[in-house]
Amino acid sequence: METKAILDFICRRRSVRRYQKKEIAAEILELLMKAAMAAPSGNNVQPWEFVIVQDPQIKEALSRVHPWVYMAAEAPAAVVVLGDKSSESPPPHTKYRKDKVHRDTYGQKF
Ligand SMILES: Cc1cc2nc3c(=O)[nH]c(=O)nc-3n(C[C@H](O)[C@H](O)[C@H](O)COP(=O)(O)O)c2cc1C
Repeated sequence: METKAILDFICRRRSVRRYQKKEIAAEILELLMKAAMAAPSGNNVQPWEFVIVQDPQIKEALSRVHPWVYMAAEAPAAVVVLGDKSSESPPPHTKYRKDKVHRDTYGQKF
């Protein structure tokens, strides 16, 4: 794809909150997960797990977790992204000392 086409594609992207009642093919979901997992992460730790939810009852329950995820109930599939907070690692140039690294790196201990 040439540069202008890529920029056009990016600028035409919109959030969609109403969906067709069509099942999403497994190959499409797999492609989407491949794209999601191509995202960069600090130190390339990739501290995520993606859970594809298609069960209507679980989507319904998810849609009530927060006011801004009401659309999950009607979506053919929802993706829950889990972040692994324990995967945080110290910067490569710092000799690892958990108590010190966090204070030095972020200005506070947590
Ligand atoms: C970090 C982040 C969190 C967001 N959270 C929600 C959300 O909880 N619910 C929702 O409906 N939209 C959410 N959005 C979508 C934004 O509201 C939307 O991208 C913004 O209004 C611009 O509209 P557009 O995506 O159609 O260009 C989120 C966007 C970002 C970047």
